[in-house]
Amino acid sequence: MKVVILKDAAAVAAYGAEIFVKQINKKNHSVLGLATGSTPVALYQELIAANKESKVSFSAVRSFNLDEYMGIEGDHPQSYRHFMNEELFNHVDIDKSNTQVPPGNAANPIEACEKYERDIVDMGGIDIQLLGIGRNAHIGFNEPSSSLASRTRVKTLTQATIDDNARFFGADEHQPHLSITMGIGTILESKKVVLLATGEGKAEAIQATVEGPLSAACPASALQMHRNAVLIIDEAAASKLVDKEFYKHIEVENQKLEEMLEL
Ligand code: F6R
Repeated sequence: MKVVILKDAAAVAAYGAEIFVKQINKKNHSVLGLATGSTPVALYQELIAANKESKVSFSAVRSFNLDEYMGIEGDHPQSYRHFMNEELFNHVDIDKSNTQVPPGNAANPIEACEKYERDIVDMGGIDIQLLGIGRNAHIGFNEPSSSLASRTRVKTLTQATIDDNARFFGADEHQPHLSITMGIGTILESKKVVLLATGEGKAEAIQATVEGPLSAACPASALQMHRNAVLIIDEAAASKLVDKEFYKHIEVENQKLEEMLEL
């Protein structure tokens, strides 16, 4: 996997957004895999700005979100559907009927998960998948011990994830302990994966993802098996990488190669 280490969170967002803009400009009907959480917000702001400046159009784009809480409606302020509307969809020229978030309120969640998988395949598969990473190295809501071959399904959240996400919920507000999430196998089928991580709190998860063994104990380590995955991280998130200088050196060489190929 490619590891790009940048100065700070703003540089991470700008670099990541550029990859999405290039992808959409190359294929205007790209199928995007999208994520929620704090980390992608700055990238979404970059995309909104690029759309306003007519550098990119989402009018033909289709999207699938990674996950959703179980048992809450899409218009619930803590739902991931609501998050996506607020943080991206309401501000760009996307057709919301082309956007999908797993239905957390489905009467039959098992059938809904199977349909989600079928819908992704019917769209031709995900061209580019955006990911954040949990402090326990979860991707989507695939918590440690998730099968590396898993598909979209109902998952129980760990106490660590519930605690991490409690900041989004009011003191008296019900916080779901179950989710629907794309599986690790689903994510690995995306043609390209872009994972963002910022801050020291993610340093251990990033070290295990890049340099640890491939293991269900570290769900993001499954990306070692992906042929086109890039981790865009800031210095703080990179701080525990043993071979940090080597990854920086590889990036310098990659840049030279790209410049040469563009000539
Ligand atoms: C969100 C998601 C999660 C988050 C992860 C990091 O759709 O799937 O895996 O990416 O929990 O969250 P933040 O960015 O808030 O640290």
